[in-house]
Amino acid sequence: MQLPVMPMLDPVRLTRTRRLALYGTGTGLWLSGALWLVFHYFMVQQTAFGPAPHPLEHWWLSIHGLFAFGTLWMLGLLWGAHIVGGWRSGRRRVTGSLLLLMNAELTVTGYLLYYPPSDDAVSTVAFLHWTVGLAAPLSFVIHRYLKTQRRR
Ligand code: HEM
Ligand code: HEM
Repeated sequence: MQLPVMPMLDPVRLTRTRRLALYGTGTGLWLSGALWLVFHYFMVQQTAFGPAPHPLEHWWLSIHGLFAFGTLWMLGLLWGAHIVGGWRSGRRRVTGSLLLLMNAELTVTGYLLYYPPSDDAVSTVAFLHWTVGLAAPLSFVIHRYLKTQRRR
């Protein structure tokens, strides 16, 4: 019996499907986080019993949690399908490392938001989480479009 021939995948370049999955999860993650911020800080509702959170605030965080799981999955995929090969190619190391570092920070602070070490730490951790989160697309665009020469 003849075995099927598997096509060789490039160790750095992402396939179209993987790239689209990455853009989809990244956009969903960022938008849900940003919308939570908008609703939490600017859409507080005035009720007869005083200020109350907008009903959609809870949904943005639930959706954010869903995309966060998807993002961790994508990071695992990227490790094997892009990052190790990208590092070995010697190109885009600085921008790639910065992006990876930001994702690590978001993962650690995201975890600490679920399991805070103390009640006092929550607001600091949240601030460290969403400031880096809001800036993440910039670091992605730099990594995506800034081309550097191969290291000798
Ligand atoms: C969270 C981390 C990262 C993400 C989301 C990411 C994403 C991307 C994307 C979308 C591209 C555009 C080209 C393509 O679709 O293949 C790209 C290019 C590239 N990345 Fe990354 N990257 C990450 C980390 C890294 C790291 C740590 C390295 C190691 C040096 C790296 C090296 C490269 C290289 C060399 C290219 C150019 C590929 C080529 O055009 O041949 N990346 N990256
Ligand atoms: C690897 C990426 C990320 C992971 C794993 C992650 C994970 C999490 C987790 C677990 C929470 C807590 C959810 C809860 O309390 O129910 C959270 C909250 C939040 N995240 Fe993310 N997140 C990531 C990226 C982002 C990005 C890119 C933004 C951009 C704006 C962002 C903004 C927020 C905001 C505003 C909150 C609410 C903070 C608060 O409760 O005060 N996150 N995230």
